[in-house]
Amino acid sequence: MKKLIATLILVIISYWTAISQENVRQVITLKNDWKFINKDLPNAQDPSLSVKNWESVSVPHDWAIKGPFDKEVDKQVVAIKQDGEKIPTEKTGRTGALPHIGVGWYRKNLDVSEVKSDSKVILLFEGAMSDAQVFINGKKVGGWPYGYNYFYFDISSFLSSDQENILAVRLENLPQSSRWYPGAGLYRKVQLIVKDKISFNQWGQYITTPYVTPELAKVKISSKVSSENTKVEAVIKDENGVVVAKKTIAQAYGNEFELEIPIENPKIWDIDTPHLYTAKMNLYQDDELKDSEEVKFGIRSIEYNADKGGFLLNGEVTKFKGVCLHHDLGPLGAAVNKAALRRQLTILKDMGCNAIRSAHNMPSIEQLELCDEMGFLFLAESFDEWEKPKVKNGYNRLFKEWAEKDIVNLVHATRNHPSIVMWSSGNEVPDQFGSDGVKLAKWLQDIFHREDPTRPVTVGMDRVKEVMESGFGAIIDIPGLNYRTHLYKEAYEKFPQRLLLGSETASTISSRGIYKFPVVKTIGKEYEDGQTSSYDLGITSWSNVPEDDFILQDDNPWVIGQFVWTGFDYLGEPTPYNTYWPSRSSYFGMIDLAGIPKDRYYLYRSIWNTEEETLHILPHWNWEGREGQETPVFVYTNYASAELFVNGKSQGVQKKTKNGTKLERYRLMWMDVKYEPGELKVVAFDDNGNPVAENKIVTAGAPHHLKLEADRTTLKANGEDLSYITVSVVDKDGNICPTATNELSCKVKGAGEFKVICNGDATSLDVFHEPVMKTFSGKLVVTVQASNKPGDIVLEVKGRKLQTAKMTLTTE
Ligand code: GAL
Repeated sequence: MKKLIATLILVIISYWTAISQENVRQVITLKNDWKFINKDLPNAQDPSLSVKNWESVSVPHDWAIKGPFDKEVDKQVVAIKQDGEKIPTEKTGRTGALPHIGVGWYRKNLDVSEVKSDSKVILLFEGAMSDAQVFINGKKVGGWPYGYNYFYFDISSFLSSDQENILAVRLENLPQSSRWYPGAGLYRKVQLIVKDKISFNQWGQYITTPYVTPELAKVKISSKVSSENTKVEAVIKDENGVVVAKKTIAQAYGNEFELEIPIENPKIWDIDTPHLYTAKMNLYQDDELKDSEEVKFGIRSIEYNADKGGFLLNGEVTKFKGVCLHHDLGPLGAAVNKAALRRQLTILKDMGCNAIRSAHNMPSIEQLELCDEMGFLFLAESFDEWEKPKVKNGYNRLFKEWAEKDIVNLVHATRNHPSIVMWSSGNEVPDQFGSDGVKLAKWLQDIFHREDPTRPVTVGMDRVKEVMESGFGAIIDIPGLNYRTHLYKEAYEKFPQRLLLGSETASTISSRGIYKFPVVKTIGKEYEDGQTSSYDLGITSWSNVPEDDFILQDDNPWVIGQFVWTGFDYLGEPTPYNTYWPSRSSYFGMIDLAGIPKDRYYLYRSIWNTEEETLHILPHWNWEGREGQETPVFVYTNYASAELFVNGKSQGVQKKTKNGTKLERYRLMWMDVKYEPGELKVVAFDDNGNPVAENKIVTAGAPHHLKLEADRTTLKANGEDLSYITVSVVDKDGNICPTATNELSCKVKGAGEFKVICNGDATSLDVFHEPVMKTFSGKLVVTVQASNKPGDIVLEVKGRKLQTAKMTLTTE
């Protein structure tokens, strides 16, 4: 067996990335040499079919992200009921206006000529969008309709040693099947797992830590295996690879082994110290090693207890300072990339964010791995619909037959991630109405409990009055409220749980660097340019400004935290511009589609990041034509008060206060500042009134040159790693030109390639994969991808009448 698998790897290593766990088990990521075609071919699974005209692609792959943007793609005449609409209107851009609808086929040759007949070969998909039908050598292996879930098949009996084996996957996205951009294709990893017939089951390890103190922890491992007469050994290693415990057990109950392993002085997984352990699980029969698998886990305790103050992580009351994220990675689309996910989390960490909600579906494994490593709490969601539809061809079509299977796979595939602290069985499901919904809620929650008794379940509820009456809200482990800040108190009093989660909050809208006058609160306001104002007072009819949530969080210990809609902008759902074209991505993000923070990011940072200083001024100070007019200035800061100066003239001191408006509690605002070009300076004071920090912005001159700033300058030469280079148009003194819309073009040479470009403008129809784009509010971001060869990458960015800028990155 060992020999055969080793040989198999030798044969395929040239085009498969192999991750060796042990000689007895090989995990092979099927990354390269896929063929793809974006149409239906009735016989595409036929092994004799020529694929000459098919495109060569690597996986993860999103077939729709290259566009072009086209309003006809997702034009719908509908009333969005959950937004309170009654009359249908023509909607565009709702799913990103990208060509994701239709059929796509993927094919790949699997050279398994060396695999012995007694080995087991598992084909694992971590998500396929959508309605996957999988074939080997023309024979149907199986299918999985929900595009966000993980699924696998045992393909051992489909493989032939006499011929080249052909894997074919058909995917189909129906129109009106999503409320956002879902992506298209094999957008997550696909793997082959080659092991002995006598082996651990797929997702067969379940590790929990039911007892955790600084002195001692109990690690409980349930391990499911394929055969009796085996024994299981667990070797626990800390993050330095040091073996801290070992245990062997020969007694199984049916096909399940249960090990309890004491760990003295455990290194506890926490947000600030996300220590991880590895359990190396070995399976023996007659002292022969049959299988071996490494599983990472964290030692941590979670508790939800109203009497103890809400949610406790390792005994400490911890509020969720969370954001909701859709799965797309902006210009990269839905195709998973770990470097892109790491960048998102790095930016969010700096804001003081400690939690992520995967809205409204299963997260990628890569995102969970990073949350484990970087210290984020995770709310893993499953569905946006149950039985009743939001969109005609949504999950409602699948719910009855698939909901249980989908939850089982979600839990089994992800339950060892310490970051996951709560499940969600649904988001704003229309089944909140009526008694059937209560039964469904209970049924789904029971499935989660059966599969994982260690974590509670929430539902994001927006029909708060209705769920108070029907009993729906009372049966959910952790009642989650989406918006409806005015109903928190009442819900808290009516529900028996005595705690509430802001499962979705704010939905404030803004466009980076765009400011609208007069500066007033607006509801669903549309402007001629398709943009929204960054004074952070724009909301929708169902949503609110961030302050409403801050107040609920700060004044009520029973509110256990919030998940803001959203951390990053995402493709699709261009509210309030659902009927306006062109507009194809959201305005809800604190950070734009390119990954550049908007002003709102700093408002959250000033409250959530309690370690570092925030002293952020808005708007920009380039208002030619507004001279002498009222141009309010806001400062987002963790300091209690500050004084503002325009060209050295004091505009007075502002102090945060609980006795004023809700905004005055969290923002410093000078509403009657008259614009004059020059310098806007803020001096912040500590609680004793001593000046402790200052910041300033100035009126920029004409665009002169470009400033390049990379998030990372040393990349891995693995063909996947990314560097994000923010390009700013600056004047001759280096001040950012905040209104610049210069067209820039870029070239990448050396050990990498140009990947995508994005400026964060929701109304831009420029495609992301052509290296030319205009800056939006003075900036854009270029993404460069490392090749497989170590060396230097040179990025050159040019614009008319601007000095050319160059940057060198290294890969190793
Ligand atoms: C919520 C919904 C989200 C998103 C958001 C926009 O009601 O759960 O998916 O649509 O509104 O404000």
